[in-house]
Order: sequence, then C-alpha cells, then structure tokens
Amino acid sequence: MATNAAKTTASHLIGQPVDRVDGVLKVTGRAKYAYETAPSGMPAYGFIRGAAIGKGRIATIDTSAAEKAPGVIMVMTHRNAPAQPEFGPPRIKGPVFVRARPVLANDQVTYFDQPVALVVAETFEAARSAAALIRIDYARDGGVFDVESHVGDAYRPETINAGMATDTAVGNFDQAFADAPVTINAEYRTPFENHCPMEPHATLASWSGDELTLHTSTQTIANIRAGVSATLQIPPEKVRVISPYVGGGFGSKLIPHAEAILAALAARSLRRPVKVALTRQQMFANAGHRPMMLQSIRLGADRQGKLSAIGHDVVSSTARAEEFAEQTATSTRSLYAAPNRRTSHRLVRMDVHRGEWMRAPGEAPGMLAFECAMDELAVALEIDPIELRIRNEPDRDPERNVPFSTRNLIACMREGVRRFGWDKRPATPASRREGRTLIGYGMSSAIRPNYFQEASARASISKDGQVIAQCDMTDIGTGTYTILTQIAAETLGVPIDTVKVQLGDSSFPRTPGSGGSWGAATSGSAVHAACTALKQKLLEAARQHEKSPLKGVNTDELNIVDGQVLSAGRRMSVADLVGMIAPEGLSADGKVAAADTYKTYSQHAFGAHFAEVGVDCDTGEIRLRRMLGVFAAGRILNAKTARSQLIGGMIWGVGAALLEEGVIDKRYGQFVNHDLAEYHVAVNADVPKVDAVFVEEYDDKTNPLGSKGIGELGICGAGASVANAVYNATGIRVREFPITLDKLLPDMPLVAI
Ligand code: MOS
Repeated sequence: MATNAAKTTASHLIGQPVDRVDGVLKVTGRAKYAYETAPSGMPAYGFIRGAAIGKGRIATIDTSAAEKAPGVIMVMTHRNAPAQPEFGPPRIKGPVFVRARPVLANDQVTYFDQPVALVVAETFEAARSAAALIRIDYARDGGVFDVESHVGDAYRPETINAGMATDTAVGNFDQAFADAPVTINAEYRTPFENHCPMEPHATLASWSGDELTLHTSTQTIANIRAGVSATLQIPPEKVRVISPYVGGGFGSKLIPHAEAILAALAARSLRRPVKVALTRQQMFANAGHRPMMLQSIRLGADRQGKLSAIGHDVVSSTARAEEFAEQTATSTRSLYAAPNRRTSHRLVRMDVHRGEWMRAPGEAPGMLAFECAMDELAVALEIDPIELRIRNEPDRDPERNVPFSTRNLIACMREGVRRFGWDKRPATPASRREGRTLIGYGMSSAIRPNYFQEASARASISKDGQVIAQCDMTDIGTGTYTILTQIAAETLGVPIDTVKVQLGDSSFPRTPGSGGSWGAATSGSAVHAACTALKQKLLEAARQHEKSPLKGVNTDELNIVDGQVLSAGRRMSVADLVGMIAPEGLSADGKVAAADTYKTYSQHAFGAHFAEVGVDCDTGEIRLRRMLGVFAAGRILNAKTARSQLIGGMIWGVGAALLEEGVIDKRYGQFVNHDLAEYHVAVNADVPKVDAVFVEEYDDKTNPLGSKGIGELGICGAGASVANAVYNATGIRVREFPITLDKLLPDMPLVAI
C-alpha cells in the first residue's frame, strides 16, 4: 500500500473524532441563521413574485391593488427598481463569481419564476398576500425547454467549469475503439437535480449611511460581497457580509441570488432593514440546479479486460442567459489507464435559469454514468468489476502524464472487499432471491480532484489564555468550526476548550470559503499558519523577556504543551506569559498561497463504494439494504465529521441513482415538482445501513496538513454502485436516471410463486 506514515504532533488533536463545537447551539436552536437575525430597528419583509412564463416579456403589470393592500410599504418592479448595471453576455471570462446580477432590471423574462416584483410589507404574510394581487400580462415567446430535441444545436463551450479543457484527446481513439475485440457503447441520461439545502436562501439587509450590512446564507463571504457591490455599484468595503451559521449550501450558495440583491435595494430605498427569503418552491428555479445531461460512453478492451480506448462525450443543458458547463467527463481523464482516449463537452441552450455548482459538479453525474459503463464492460468480459479496475490501474495520470501525489484506489477496493463481503456477491445477475426479493451487489470507484486556494487567518490570545481564531470561512454544516478549533489548539499547544473559532464575517481575514472541497484544507492551513506565527511570538517573548523564567533558553528547546511554555525543568503558563508581555493580548496573522503542486502532480482523493439492494420481483420496488464507502483522502482532520460528510455524499448518490429528478414542463419551462413532497430525496427509511471508513493516508504534496478535500468525494461514483447492484439483482441495465420501478417492470425476470 502506497501510503505515507501519518504525521501527528505531540497533542494529537487533529484527526480526533471531536464532537461539533457548535452542536449544542444548533440542536437547541441558538445558532442564529440569516432570517432569524434581529436587526436594530423593525425590519420590513419582502416577498418575491415570480414570472408565470418561461420566456417573453412583461406586457403590462398592475400593482395598484397590491400597493393598497394592508401593511404594504412598497412594490418594486422593473418600472421603479433602482438602476443596476447590465448583466452582460452569457459568458464573461473570469468574474463569474463576482459579476453584477441585476434583478427587476427590465421587462424581459428569461426563465420561469424569474422575479418580476418584490412586495415589501410590515409582515411576511402581508407581503405574500399582496404579491398575489399584482396583475401581470405577458407576451410569451417560444422557448427551448428540453435538451433531447435540440442536441443538433449543441455548441462547444470555450472552457468548462473551473477553466478546465472542454475536450481532450490522447492517441487515436476511433481506431482503437474500432479495433477492440470487446466494446461498450452506451448512452446515459442524468436529469436536472436541485440542491434543496435545509435553510433557504435568505438575507437581512440594513444600511447605516452608505454602508450595507447583509446577514445572509452563503458559502463564500467574499463572493457575496463582490457580487452585491458590483450590482449596487458601491465599493466592496462598503458591504459587510455576515454568515456565521449556514443550513447547507451544496454549491447553491456560491453567488448572490435575487433575495440578497432585492433585500439590499429595498432596504436602501426604505432606509429600513428588509428581510427577503426564497421560498422552497422559488429555490428550484432561482437558486441553481444541476443541468441535465446525455452522456455517451465508449470503452474498448482486449479479452483480458485491458482497456485500449476510453471515450466520454457529454451533452449538457445550459442557460441561454448565462453559460454553465459542468466538467462531467473530467474524472474519466484521470481514472483508468488506456493509450487511446477522448473526452468532450457540448452544451444545449435552454430558457431556464443558470445551472450552478452542485456538490461534485461534473464528477457526480459523470461518474454515475462512467462507473456503470465499467460495470457493463465487466459483465461483457465476465470479469469481476474490481479485477477489471485493478487491471487498468495507471501508474501515472493517463492524460497528463504526471505522477499521482497519492493514489490508493486499489487499497480502498481491497479494504471494501474484505469489510463488505464482496466474495458473497451473486456471480450471475438475478440469481439470488430471498422470498420475493431479488438481491444484488454493486461497486464503483470514486475519484475527486484536490484543490487549494490562497487564504488568511488571524489568531489572538488574551492574558486569560483564551485563544480566538478568525477568518471569513463558513461552516455550512460540514464541521468547519470544529476542525479549525482542533487545528488551532494543536498548533498552539493549548487545551481545546480555550480556543474559540469565529467565522462568517467579511471583517475577518479572507478565505475562499466553502466550495470545491477546498474549505477545510485551505482555511485549516491558514489557521495553522496564524497559530504557528502566534506561537513563534510567544516563544520568542518567553526566551527574551526580562522577567521570564525561560529567559535565554534556545528556541528549539522551547515548546508549548497543554497551555504551558516548557523547557527542560522550567515552565510558565501561556496566560501568565501573555499577561507579562502583552496584557492587552497578542495576535498574529497567517497566510497560505494557492498551491501549484496540482501542476506537477495529479492530485485526487479516491474511494470505493459497495452497495447491496433488494428488488421486489413483483413490483420492481428497489430498496437499498446496505452500503459501504472506503476512502483514501489524505490526513483526516476529524474522524467523526469526515465520516458524516462522506456518508452524506453517499446518501446523495443513492438519491441520484434511485430518486432525484427535477421534472421540467417541456411546453412552459417550469420545474413542476418544485417542493420536497414531489422532488424525492433519500430519507432515513431509504438508507437503512450505511458506513464510511478510511484507508490511512498522508499526502505531503497537498498542504501543510497533508489533508485532501472530502466534501464532494462521497457522492462521486456512489450512485453507480447502487445502479450496478440493481443490475446484479435483476439483470436489467437502466441507463436513464433515476432508476425507478417503472423502468424495471417491463423487463423484470419472471419468478414463479
Ligand atoms: Mo461546491 S458544488 O463547490 O459547493
């Protein structure tokens, strides 16, 4: 196994399964979310009215009845909304996170449920009631509301998400595929999906002079600040963004949405705090989605299962008004060896709101399809799917020809085989039955790139020995407060209960926030740097201060352990030291630069998923029976929060395989199942037994902590293990997700009673 020895320091706090430091606040309802924040001054409440057409323009809009309704303070439409900059072309280079996002800017409707009015009233109920009184006549244009009938119009985007290459080609794919004795050529369809975080998008805006404060629900403070300042045309320093607790984001809270812009505009007009939230229904059209995709996967192999050709071609929906290109085939570029390969991404313009990053953008739908295709190849070759993957393990990144920083995919598979009891897998599909239930096992690989960004943090210590670590990072439910507390305490050598981490405020040092699975490593490294700098200050003072009992001791003989500054035989408490040298407290800043080791190495976290399903042979009902994920993701910063996060991702994979689909009305462009009653997600009853474990790893090419991102790793490939188990149970290959019973029933094997 190619792991490096895990590096730990004396106090061993990093990695421990420490309980969430904010857990009690959350379960007792004391962690305040944006909409719950009480401003100084009575807030007014905004309610958004959405467009009832998918494309066209507002012909007439009559707000008179709404304006006269009880409690109404203001009705804002495109006729009276404050001037905002033009939105600009669908694609602008670079500043997607920070571009102006004007709302109610003109009479044009570019997607169904686009905001066309904001009613502000004394209460939420009054605003909602009055919003229904606005009369709107539309001039409707025909729009494009499906991908399938417009595949011929697909275009090639200049780049795909995160600036990755749209297409890649190595060797001669066409020739190798044509020559291969065993081939798979399959088309998969993955649907629109929605993030649906528990906490809706919500903002409280208040002004003090020319300064705006937004209490909002966001993953990335700096993006909201930049986007709002660009839209309102005020300097970023005049926008303070506060977001200490966030009830989930999953990529849907990386840019400002209509509620933030409208709250800010209305609060400025009224000189009064204004709260606006998207309703659950409004989130479906207005807060991003995962685009729907058609994925063509072609594999060519010899009879021993050695791949000679890998092709992954994707057609995905995008919005006419703003391009978003998921990097769906990019995992395929690094996963298995084959001398001849191609990947491509094409987009079909639709008249919907823009797609947004949704947990493992690209990798999640891409691996769902690709890892099913690998299973199809294993079936065609009559090779165990794990053996097939082992035979195609690359020793270098197969497209970039650089070494992997670490790659423990095989170790994950082998550990999973042992723990899951893979040897008991039914060798023949549809061959095992318990009563009227067909049983099947499936597996898949997981791969997710590791990213690292520039970040900064501050650490301070008081004469009471209390430590505060600050940065504008967010905790979107992932456990950031907890891991940063562990990192700060271990780095400084102080007890964990003397450390308080403060996040989610634009007045704190800047980080890239929560996104791309870089949050823990990036903000953690910044906190590590700040605490290291603070520790150096403390140690220097201890050996230099006149009255210090440690005066004159060499730096390398000094350390801080459990809140005590120590040298052989001598000690003083950190608190006493601070009291002596800086009674007003001492602080230090730390900064880490964006890493470029991803250029010299192929840097990914890996994993293997295993699933067992039961399929009712009369109704086709699919039930997950158990699931296991084994992951190698560098050093794990907190064994408990990491496991929870990975399990969360795996459960989402179950949803992608079996349940989730945003259904669009192809005539009108509306997402019709726009609530959690009709948009199905995996709930407790769908997930009886699921576990995630780790293979020990330390990646010294990633960051000072040796960790890798895990937020998105759990969903990568997870659904494919479930889909492959459904195949193993039934012998039916469904390539259109989600796999619902109606897709199984026509082909279900007849089982005698
Ligand atoms: Mo993530 S989809 O970058 O929040």
